[in-house]
Amino acid sequence: MRRKLVAGNWKMHGSLAENEALLSGLLAGMGNVKAGVAVCVPFPYLSQVQAKLNGSAIAWGAQNMSQQAKGAFTGEVSASMLKDFGCAYVIVGHSERRAIYGESDALVAEKFAAAQAAGLTPILCVGETLEEREGGITESVVARQMDAVINKCGVAALAKAVVAYEPVWAIGTGKTASPEQAQAVHAFIRAKVRAQDAGVAEGLIIQYGGSMKAANAVELLGQPDIDGGLIGGAALVAEDFLAICRAA
Ligand code: 13P
Repeated sequence: MRRKLVAGNWKMHGSLAENEALLSGLLAGMGNVKAGVAVCVPFPYLSQVQAKLNGSAIAWGAQNMSQQAKGAFTGEVSASMLKDFGCAYVIVGHSERRAIYGESDALVAEKFAAAQAAGLTPILCVGETLEEREGGITESVVARQMDAVINKCGVAALAKAVVAYEPVWAIGTGKTASPEQAQAVHAFIRAKVRAQDAGVAEGLIIQYGGSMKAANAVELLGQPDIDGGLIGGAALVAEDFLAICRAA
């Protein structure tokens, strides 16, 4: 049985004071949460989160990183720096990075490899746009995004990674994929991995992301291949995020 994992993606939100209140609320409410829980925060707040969550049941991570290990890369942050601040996870290939910052499948695969090389667990985001879904190419888009990583790192690398299926049209829009729509893509991803390595496929945590909230979490998380959530907006309110964690 895979242990469910709920991760908050704070995106570019927060302040020292807001984070303090949010993290205190989360810590106070973790008592009846059985799932794994993590928060992925903006770089400047890693130190705050590390100090606050150290020794707790909540893990933490970042939302992006450089594919480079070190050097003259102004403005970039390396995987080893994230390790320095106790990160367990790093999100790679979020659709906002792909769409707004032009990150290619190949670059995402390089970041995935660099994260693992430093001992971080990458959360690899995949997902189709509305146009791609309506064009009937959801599976081929997700397969292409998965293959970029599998071809570079090998399918066994997925044993130390998390995949997040995030349909772009459901992110921040209030439009959630139906449990059936999400389950179909999750099953497709697992079957694709199973075709290369059944053991890796059975152990692989595949999160759903895209307007997940307390009201739809139970149904989504009840699907056989949905192993958790990557939560945006609802991760910014302690009680909303905890409700999803309890559902998991
Ligand atoms: P929302 O939950 O705000 O739709 O964001 C999802 C997401 O992008 C998580 O990475």
